[in-house]
Amino acid sequence: MSRHLYLDSSPPAYRGPTDVIDKNAFHKTISVLGARISPERTRVLLKANELRNCLMDLPKIRTVVSDPSQRDGDRLVLLRMSDKADIPVEAQQFLDKEAKGLVDYTVDLDYNYWTAEECLHAFLPEKLREGAPTGFAMTGHIAHVNLNDEYLPYKHIIGQLILDKNKRVTTVVNKLNMIDNQFRFFKMELIAGEPQYVVEHREADCTFTFDFTEVYWNSRLHTEHERLVELFKPEDVIADVFAGVGPFAVPAAKKGCAVLGNDLNPNSAKYLAQNVEDNRVTDLVRVSCEDGRDFIRTSVSRLYGTPFPAYTGPRPSRAQQEKERKQLQKRVAAEGIPIPPSVPADDTKPPRRRISHFVMNLPDSAITFLDAFRGILSDAEDRNLSGTYSEMPMIHCHCFTRELEPEKAEADIRQRVEEKLGHALGGETSFHLVRSVAPAKEMYCVSFRLPREVAFAV
Ligand SMILES: C[S@@+](CC[C@H](N)C(=O)[O-])C[C@H]1O[C@@H](n2cnc3c(N)ncnc32)[C@H](O)[C@@H]1O
Repeated sequence: MSRHLYLDSSPPAYRGPTDVIDKNAFHKTISVLGARISPERTRVLLKANELRNCLMDLPKIRTVVSDPSQRDGDRLVLLRMSDKADIPVEAQQFLDKEAKGLVDYTVDLDYNYWTAEECLHAFLPEKLREGAPTGFAMTGHIAHVNLNDEYLPYKHIIGQLILDKNKRVTTVVNKLNMIDNQFRFFKMELIAGEPQYVVEHREADCTFTFDFTEVYWNSRLHTEHERLVELFKPEDVIADVFAGVGPFAVPAAKKGCAVLGNDLNPNSAKYLAQNVEDNRVTDLVRVSCEDGRDFIRTSVSRLYGTPFPAYTGPRPSRAQQEKERKQLQKRVAAEGIPIPPSVPADDTKPPRRRISHFVMNLPDSAITFLDAFRGILSDAEDRNLSGTYSEMPMIHCHCFTRELEPEKAEADIRQRVEEKLGHALGGETSFHLVRSVAPAKEMYCVSFRLPREVAFAV
């Protein structure tokens, strides 16, 4: 076995400052031999069995380079040894026959060559290398990490590495272990890049704009958002009690659903309204900024008084709308016809007055809001609520539990829900494990049909 068969391409031990990265400290040269050969014959060396264990195979570095002494002429096929004496005899004989000789070649590696993880290992003391934090979550252009205390002295380095090694990232924040108790958004500190916190994020074919320091957003919930929106029918009306900036409300409206979207955080309500507009669903989403309890108590009555127009079928795509607009413009120009009024809403179908689903994603306390459903359909004004609500709404209530076994988790959640509702849950109840948020903390969504006795309680 040759002495130099293994090429050490790891970064050099870092000896620069530890508050900023000295990129020049990341430089390494590796000496190898290059077998000179004409361009059309490089494959002969690359495919040769005799050279199988001799070719240089550093990631991201070309094995074939042009010969620096003859730029337009021969190529060099790089070997992984720097000393001729290390080339096995069989390979040596092959090269003597096929190549035009061996020359010294230097491979230069710099800061750009190594991954964030490799660079970080060069910085960190040995004891911190295992488990070093190079993973991060992305929201728009912001990368966020959650650093343990022992890595805090290196936070700016970690941030800079994430910034330098990921083109889409322009801001890196460290989430502090403080969550705004009421509105659930994280406190965070900038560790690299620009202090620019208004992000544009895409989820479910929708664009969401929001200030990450002012509102709640969690990209890990995207499958839960999708799951519930999938359950909704386009004709449904959805009441989103804790809507945030709209990850349930906006995709549901895009599907055709009418939505009452509510959030007590004025900034969430502001960005929800903007997202509704940006995604062109203003006619289908009504935004409010109230306490969830008031919203639950008044939503039935408000919708009944001011219903949404009936669902009239899928909307044409943006491209289709644009095409139709252009065709109409052409006709108007060619035939001189007046611009026809836009298609009126279909008033042959009854308007939408019934809430089909309530969504309650505030896992910390949503269950405690459930008593607000008591009596929501008992009507002092004697309208025909019972006829309208021949089918009761489904409630999708998110919650946490410390029980890790599914059966115990379900029993725990059921007991808390029934206690708050003051009534047993019926047959149409299901429990969905959304995600594990901590080693002993699971997030669930319990879905159940609102018991008639609760809704009509007086
Ligand atoms: C966990 S977030 C969920 C947001 C969004 N539905 C989602 O899935 O990303 C909970 C939301 O409830 C809002 N909130 C907290 N307390 C509230 C209350 N009493 N009434 C209404 N909204 C509230 C917060 O501002 C936050 O936007």
